Amino acid sequence: MRFRAWICSTLLLSVAGLPAEPQSQAPSPIPHLERRGDATQLIVDGKPFLVLAGELYNNSATSLEYMNSVWPRLTSMHLNTVLAAVSWAQLEPSEGKFDYALVDGLIREARVHNLRLVLLWFGSWKNTWSSYAPDWVKRNFERFPRVQLSNGSGTERLTPFSQANCDADARAFAALMRRIHEVDGEAHTVIMIQVENEVGVIPDARDYSVQANAAHSQQVPGDLMEYLRSHKETLDPYLRAKWLAAGFKASGNWETVFGPGLETDDLFMAWRYARYIGKVAEAGKAQYSLPMYVNAALIRPSFAPGQYNSGGPLAHSIDIWRAGGPQLDFLAPDIYFEFKHWCAQYDRPDNPLFIPEAAGGSAGDANVFYAVGQHKSLGFSPFGIDGLDGVGGEADALGRSYDILSQLAPLILENQPKGRTAGVLLEDLTPAQKLRLGDYTLNISGSGTRRIALGAGSSQGSPASAPHGIFIATGPDEFYMAGSGLTVTFSPDTPGPSIAGLATVEEGRFVDGQWVRGRTLAGDDTGQGNSISLDAVRHPGILRVTLYRYR
Ligand code: DGJ
Repeated sequence: MRFRAWICSTLLLSVAGLPAEPQSQAPSPIPHLERRGDATQLIVDGKPFLVLAGELYNNSATSLEYMNSVWPRLTSMHLNTVLAAVSWAQLEPSEGKFDYALVDGLIREARVHNLRLVLLWFGSWKNTWSSYAPDWVKRNFERFPRVQLSNGSGTERLTPFSQANCDADARAFAALMRRIHEVDGEAHTVIMIQVENEVGVIPDARDYSVQANAAHSQQVPGDLMEYLRSHKETLDPYLRAKWLAAGFKASGNWETVFGPGLETDDLFMAWRYARYIGKVAEAGKAQYSLPMYVNAALIRPSFAPGQYNSGGPLAHSIDIWRAGGPQLDFLAPDIYFEFKHWCAQYDRPDNPLFIPEAAGGSAGDANVFYAVGQHKSLGFSPFGIDGLDGVGGEADALGRSYDILSQLAPLILENQPKGRTAGVLLEDLTPAQKLRLGDYTLNISGSGTRRIALGAGSSQGSPASAPHGIFIATGPDEFYMAGSGLTVTFSPDTPGPSIAGLATVEEGRFVDGQWVRGRTLAGDDTGQGNSISLDAVRHPGILRVTLYRYR
C-alpha cells in the first residue's frame, strides 16, 4: 500500500455548468491516505476526514432528475459523503465516445449540497456479473469473452483472463479519472474511488473458459511466488497454512503450491481479479491518483467458494490481492452480518477499515459508533441510503448518529493516532465488557433502556439499536462519550487512590468545534455519582466526563 501526499495540478479547467472551484492561494494536496501513529487516515484538503456516508441504490445516480429530491434528504441525515455508482455503459455508450454529463452533474450537485463523493466504478463487474458493461461490449462476446461454467455454458460475466476485456475497461476508467481531474482536481469533491463492485465467480469456484483453463495448469506466476517467499512470516494465517500443508513449495502449478480443491480455485481467481483490477486502477491513477479500493461480498457461515464470490477481495486472500494488485490501496468489506467479526478481519496495520456498504436501520446507527471508535474506520456507509424511512424512522436514527459523530469528528480524528478512542457494541454473547482507555478501565454493561419506545417524529435514536457507544480519552482524567443503552463505571489503572469518582458530568454539543455545555448531571442521572448512563432517550447527545480519585 502506498500512502502518498501528491500535489494536485493547479490547472483550473472551466467546465460548463460546474460552479467555480474555490480559488485557494496554494494548491491543497489531493485526497490521500496517510499513516499517523496508530491510525491510517484519509486526508482531504490537508486535514483528516471522517467519511459519514451512505451508498445510493445502484441506479439512483443514473438520472440527475431523480437525484434532485434525494440530495436534500442526504444532507438532512448529516451525511458528509455519498457513494454513487458510475456505469461504464453510460460513460462510454459507443466505443471511444465518452459522455461526461452525468459525472459532471453529480459533482456539481454534490458541491451545491456540500457533500463529497466516493464514486463506484461499475465497469467490468458488479456483483460478479457484467450488467453495467456497454452493449457494444456485451454483444461482441468473441472480442470480449465471458466466464464459462464447468458445464460448458457461458454467463454474462466478462472473463478476467482476457487482455481485451482489461484494456477496454482500463481505457474507459482512465477517461473517467481524466475527467474527474479536469473538473475536480482542485475542489476535491470526489475523495475516493471504488474500482468494480463485489467481484468473484459463482456458482463455480473458478472460470472454466479456455484462457482460464490454460492459466490454471500453468505455474503460479513468479511474482506471486516471490511475494510469498519474501512475506512468509507475515502472510495471512489461512494462506500460510494452505502453502504449508502443500509443503511450502517454491514453484509449481496452483494445485502443487496450494493443494487441490475449491479453496485453491478461490486463490487462483483472486490473483487474476487482482491483476486485472490493479491494471484498471493503474490506468486511472495515471490520470488522477485518488485513493482506490475494492469491496467484498463476505462469506456466509459454512459457505464454500462458488457459494460465496470466489476470488473476491476477501480478508483471507489479502496477500494475493496485495501481490497482484499493488495499485489498490485497500480491501473493504460490505458488512451485512457478523459486524464485529468482519471489522476485525479487515482492520490491519496494512489495511485500513472502510465500510462502503452495511446494513442501515437500527443496526447501522449503532454499528457506526463501533467501527469508528474501535477500528478507526475511515468511514461508514449504509446501503440504499435514499430508501431509508423518513421522519421518525431509520433516516432520523442514522441522522442522530451522524450528527453526534460529525460533532465529535475533530476529537476522534485527533485521538485515533494516539490510540485514545474506543467503541463498544454489546451483543447477546457479550452483554458486558471491560475496556482499557487512557488511565482507566471502563466497566460497561447494557442498561436495558434501549427498548424504550419513541414517539412518532422523535429524533432521539432507534429503540431497537444494540447497546453501543464511542469513547474518547481527551486528557488524563477527561472523556467525551456518546451512545445508547450502556451503563459505565470507571476503575483507575495507574498508581494512586484506588476509587474513581465522577468530578463533573456535562451534556453538551460542539458548535463550530467549541464545546457548548448543556445540563450538568449528578444525583439520579449518575447513579448518585457512581455511574454514567449512555441513554439515547434521556441524554441524547454527547457527555463530557471528568474523573478524580479517592480512597
Ligand atoms: C451488494 C451490492 O454490492 C450492492 O450493489 C447491492 O446489490 C446490494 N448488495 C443489495 O443488497
